[in-house]
Amino acid sequence: MAEFVRIHEVGPRDGLQNEPGLIGVDRKVALIDLLGTSGLRDIEVGSFVSPKWVPQMADTDQVLARLHPVEGVRYGVLVPNMRGWDGFIAARVPGVTYEVAVFISASEGFSQSNLNCSIATSVERLSPVVQAAQAAGVGVRGYISCVTDCPFDGAVPPEAVARAAAMLRDVAPMPLSLGDTIGKGTPARVTAMLEAVMAEVPVGDLAGHFHDTGGRALANISAALDLGVRAFDSAVGGLGGCPYAPGAPGNVATEAVLELVHGLGFTTGIDVDVIDRAAEMARGMR
Ligand code: HMG
Ligand code: MG
Repeated sequence: MAEFVRIHEVGPRDGLQNEPGLIGVDRKVALIDLLGTSGLRDIEVGSFVSPKWVPQMADTDQVLARLHPVEGVRYGVLVPNMRGWDGFIAARVPGVTYEVAVFISASEGFSQSNLNCSIATSVERLSPVVQAAQAAGVGVRGYISCVTDCPFDGAVPPEAVARAAAMLRDVAPMPLSLGDTIGKGTPARVTAMLEAVMAEVPVGDLAGHFHDTGGRALANISAALDLGVRAFDSAVGGLGGCPYAPGAPGNVATEAVLELVHGLGFTTGIDVDVIDRAAEMARGMR
């Protein structure tokens, strides 16, 4: 039987958060609803972060209220602190499956830029979020940014990523997504980083999150597949970026990841035709 690769669609969050022109709730919901019919099981739809920091995500409560939930799809939201958790609790719709994502950086420079605090403080602030989510029966995912390079601190040693992974896993044994935030990684460096993290975390709990700035995201995914990683984040139409990481456009495109993994004989359960239509819709939002 063909092996399964899990694709985590992050376009409506990571993709759209970086778009300078405000995109209306209706257009976001149309994209999310179309993605929901594709066979994707994970769609990240927004963030409960400061609207001053990321204005594009300020309407996430309305997105949750208006999207048409699909059975079997988990809708993800970023939550950095208890203020964000309270926002999520106020906005969530009963009966819908959600996942909250907490996020830290492997480098201090990006932690300051993205969260306005040190790595250690960011972990302190997200810990009660994880506990609240566990108590409420909501799934949690942890992101680590800058797993190969930081826009402020330069190359990030694999041990720093392994340390960050251990810090999150000390909070709770959550699955982790490893972000090459500025797309500078190479297959060799991604391999070294993964080997260090895999000494701390079972590979089945790891996902790769590659931005395609350097045009190597697919090569990096191949390197991760070689080490047994079977979950990847991507954004339809290659939307994406992080407003606090200069030089971080474009998540790897979902359609390109599907072509790669299907070509290698993996299954994803995702209908490529629907993703192609969603990619066209996403490109129209730029
Ligand atoms: P701060 O200014 O240090 O926070 O920001 P604060 O606690 O001093 O609060 C300042 C103001 O923000 C207060 O409001 C708070 O109430 C409010 P005021 O009194 O000034 O009116 N506030 C909030 N409002 C709404 N929701 C909240 C919230 N928290 C505080 N949750 C903070 C700290 C974490 C809020 C800020 O730095 C922030 O929002 N950062 C988020 C940045 C972000 O979303 N970045 C993009 C996502 S990460 C990413 O893209 C990487 C990833 O894709 C993986 C990869 O590629 O590597 C995941
Ligand atoms: Mg990202």
